[in-house]
Amino acid sequence: MKNYNKEIGNEIKQNRNFMKSNFVRMEEIETDQEKKLPQPPLQKPHDEDSKLTSLPKVDKNILKKNDIYRCLKERRSRREFSEEYLSLEELSFLLWATQGVDKIIGKGYATLRPVPSGGARHPFETYLVINRIKDIEKGIYRYLPLSHELLFLFTVDDIEEKLTLANFGQKFIGDAPLIFIWSCIPYRGEWRYHITAHKVMLLDAGHLCQNLYLAAEAIGCGTCAIGAYDQEAMDKFVKLDGEDEFVVYLAPVGKYRP
Ligand SMILES: Cc1cc2nc3c(=O)[nH]c(=O)nc-3n(C[C@H](O)[C@H](O)[C@H](O)COP(=O)(O)O)c2cc1C
Repeated sequence: MKNYNKEIGNEIKQNRNFMKSNFVRMEEIETDQEKKLPQPPLQKPHDEDSKLTSLPKVDKNILKKNDIYRCLKERRSRREFSEEYLSLEELSFLLWATQGVDKIIGKGYATLRPVPSGGARHPFETYLVINRIKDIEKGIYRYLPLSHELLFLFTVDDIEEKLTLANFGQKFIGDAPLIFIWSCIPYRGEWRYHITAHKVMLLDAGHLCQNLYLAAEAIGCGTCAIGAYDQEAMDKFVKLDGEDEFVVYLAPVGKYRP
């Protein structure tokens, strides 16, 4: 290993170990699933009287590129977006492509979605910053994948500036018409995979964002994966406790000029 000072060297070693599979440890572990403890809900619960917006049924006629080869070939990280509004149909498609639920299996045991997830645990929630979507008020929302609806959460003053600050000056994020913020509820994975859950959940996150890249490309939009963000500031931005739920990934979306 490179010559780091002792403290940093230990941290790097720990982080490298986190990247490795530790499923061999499962032999000595009894998971909460094996103990028959209740399974965490498939979707974060919300108040009965919440303001909900139904999303239009996913319509593949909105696709501008039907060709998977073209979507793969032309996919790039986009950091310049036009002022154009996105439609609800486009939002509906992007949400389905990333987290939509196609099927519930095993009497509520798991969901099957366009993205894979280790053990079908799907440990993520999708928060949205909506700046410019036709017929939707600006604000912070959460996607409800089980019913394909939007849950209005709250408004934030100076959204663009706050996001720029929370993302180390990456101004294109807050300026985008739509920003995906994915959080992780780690217990959803831990319930089944205990200490082996965490690497798997981060691998899951990659799939999520790749689907967003390809789905956005197919409708003439672009996105950029964001890993360089201020953890505390982003958790605060979406009002998460930072322990049982925290932000893991972000992606602004908008129309780009090819
Ligand atoms: C996990 C991950 C984190 C990333 N974080 C950022 C980021 O914080 N800011 C940014 O501008 N680009 C970010 N990117 C985009 C990469 O810079 C980009 O994928 C890379 O330069 C290759 O370009 P391409 O995506 O156009 O092929 C990230 C990409 C990934 C996969």
